[in-house]
Amino acid sequence: MFVKIAGTGSVLPERVVDNFEIARMVDTSDEWIQTRTGIRTRHIAGKETVASMAAEAAKRAIEDAGISPEEIDLIIVSTVSAEQSLPCVACEVQKEIGAVRAAAFDLNSACSGFITGYQMAAGQMKAGLAKTALVIGSECLSNYVDWSDRGTCILFGDGAGAAILRADGAPEELEIPSVLHADGSKGDSLTCSLGHGKDKVPYDEYYRMDGRAIFKFAVRKVPEVIREVLSLSGHSVEEIDYFVLHQANRRIIEAIAKRLRQDEARFPMNIMDNGNISSACIPMLLDDMNRKGLLKPGMKLVLAGFGAGLTWGGFYLEW
Ligand code: ACO
Repeated sequence: MFVKIAGTGSVLPERVVDNFEIARMVDTSDEWIQTRTGIRTRHIAGKETVASMAAEAAKRAIEDAGISPEEIDLIIVSTVSAEQSLPCVACEVQKEIGAVRAAAFDLNSACSGFITGYQMAAGQMKAGLAKTALVIGSECLSNYVDWSDRGTCILFGDGAGAAILRADGAPEELEIPSVLHADGSKGDSLTCSLGHGKDKVPYDEYYRMDGRAIFKFAVRKVPEVIREVLSLSGHSVEEIDYFVLHQANRRIIEAIAKRLRQDEARFPMNIMDNGNISSACIPMLLDDMNRKGLLKPGMKLVLAGFGAGLTWGGFYLEW
C-alpha cells in the first residue's frame, strides 16, 4: 500500500516573457537559450504572489480530488521565493481555502521541495497523524532574479503546482519508497540572501549560481537516486511508465535518460513553456499530465528533484 495522489492543480501567472524579450535585457539570443536550455518562454508574476498562486493551485487540486477542504489534515508549502517570512505561505493557503482542521508549515529544500513535502506528508500518514495532505510547490523566482545576469535570468519562471495526497490503506501497511539527500558542503553553487545581516551590511539579494557545477551534479546524482528509489520499490527502470523530473534544463533531462538507457519519451517536459520554477516544476508537470489524460490507474512513476542546498531526492508513485 502506497500514499496516492488523489488530485492535482496548477496555475501560471498571466504574463508570458519570451526569449526575445530577455535578449533585449541581456547579451543573449533566442537561439542560445533554446539550444542550451530548451526554454522558449516563461511566465512572470505581476499581481500574483507565492501565496495567491499556492491557494489557486490548491483549489484546483481539491476540486480534482473531489474532497472538501475540511478533510485536509496537513498543508505543506515548498517555496524559496515568498514575499514575506511571516506568516508562512501554508497558513495563508489554509485561510484562503478554508482548511480549518489542517496543520500548516512551509519548507525550503529548493527544487527538491515537492519531493521533500511528499516524504514529510507520507511519514505523517505512516505515523497515523494524517490521512489527507495538501502538498504545494509555489514560486515567484522573479522576486529574486537579477535581470542583468544572463547566467540566471534566462532560466527562471513563476508558478505553482499542488497535489492532494491520501493514504491508500492503514498506516502500518503503508510503504514509502522515497529517498532524500543533501550535501551542504556544496551549498555555494547556488545562493541567495535576504535583506540585511545583523551588522546591517546588505547581502546580495539575487540568485547566484555556478550553472556548470549544478549541471554536472544533477546528471550524476539523479540517475543514482532513481536507482535507489527503484531498489526500495522493487521495480526495474524498464517497468516505469514515466520519470517526472525537476525541469531545470532540457539537456539535463536528456542526459539523465541517456545514463539510464531509457527512451526520452518517458521523460515528459514542460520546461519549453515554463522555464525552471524550482519546487513548482514537478507538481505542475504532474498536473499537465493528469489533465491531458496521460496518467492511467496503476501506472508506475518515479518523481525526482535536485537543487540548491545542494539537495536531491525521489519517490515511487503508483497512479
Ligand atoms: N547567452 C549567451 N551566452 C551565454 C549565456 C547566455 N544567456 N550564459 C552563458 N553564456 C556563455 C558563457 O559566458 C560561456 O561563454 P565562454 O565560453 O566564452 O566563457 C558560454 O556561454 C558557455 O557557458 P556555460 O556556463 O558553460 O553554459 P552551459 O552550457 O553550462 O549553460 C546553464 C549554462 C544554462 C546555466 C547550464 O549550466 C544549466 O542549466 N545549469 C543548471 C542550472 C540548474 O539546474 N539550476 C537548478 C537549480 S534552481 C534552484 O534550485 C532554485
